[in-house]
Amino acid sequence: MKITVIGAGNVGATVAQLLANDELASEIILVDVLEGIPEGKSLDMYESMPIFGSDSKIYGTTNYELTANSDIVIQTAGLARKPGMTRDDLLIKNAEIVSSCIGNAFKYSPNAYYIIVSNPLDVMTFLAYQITGLPRHKVIGMAGILDTARYRSFISMELGVSMQDIQGMILGGHGDTMVPLPRYTTVAGIPVTDLISKEKMDAICARAAGGGGEIVKYLKTGSAYYAPAAAAVQMVESIVKDQKRILPCSVMLQGEYGVNNVVVGVPVKLGKNGVEQVLELNLNNEEKAAFNTSVEHVKETIEEAKKILNL
Ligand code: LAC
Repeated sequence: MKITVIGAGNVGATVAQLLANDELASEIILVDVLEGIPEGKSLDMYESMPIFGSDSKIYGTTNYELTANSDIVIQTAGLARKPGMTRDDLLIKNAEIVSSCIGNAFKYSPNAYYIIVSNPLDVMTFLAYQITGLPRHKVIGMAGILDTARYRSFISMELGVSMQDIQGMILGGHGDTMVPLPRYTTVAGIPVTDLISKEKMDAICARAAGGGGEIVKYLKTGSAYYAPAAAAVQMVESIVKDQKRILPCSVMLQGEYGVNNVVVGVPVKLGKNGVEQVLELNLNNEEKAAFNTSVEHVKETIEEAKKILNL
């Protein structure tokens, strides 16, 4: 397994380290435009491998030739939010960065699976899908796992129970319009709606939806990276080990949920063939309306991106 991580910033470097520690790839290539950074961070990580007991090889480079024939490419490069910004404020700059990175990577790895992490997430995943021309099961956006992890951690905090027992689902775009689903959330099989009042659940849902912004506010100079990186690595693990996990990911919809040609978060089965199935939930009217609002928002931002890039 050869995995390329594009972007040696906080998210990219953390992804590379988690992949290496868990030995999810024999070869990891960390690529960035800033000479010295990918090389230095990779060597530093490589030197930690004896301690972690992992034989993953990590190489840093500014040269995409070294990424050739990767099985998986993870796109993390791009600007991060500063306080007061929405993810959509990153659109113009990141559309350029993502198209250039994905274009370069695709030249050398036309058979890879592409996992997109750069923001605004759903739109950047759409761009990667357009640029590569790959089928939708090979171009997958990371957002739902992160949003759901935040949501699950807040529920764990509220109930004082293990994180491990909390299952949840969040649909829609990775932004303010995301749709947490308390009706599809359980604690060891018990509906969360039996355990937490509607008022408290509303607050938890709102905190999850604003979870990225909460971290940006603390960090001031950038956005979250530990949880985003862990979420991307969970997608890799499910693909590499053919786990067939059911995880919320951003994917091109082709008729599911009555939506066509929009990339947005829904539950999918992730295995050795990437997205092996898109699961359609039986949403009630309120959930459907919230999901449609989110889809409309992503759609509008996709149209803006297309204009910027003359697509
Ligand atoms: C977040 C950013 C990375 O949600 O989108 O933290």
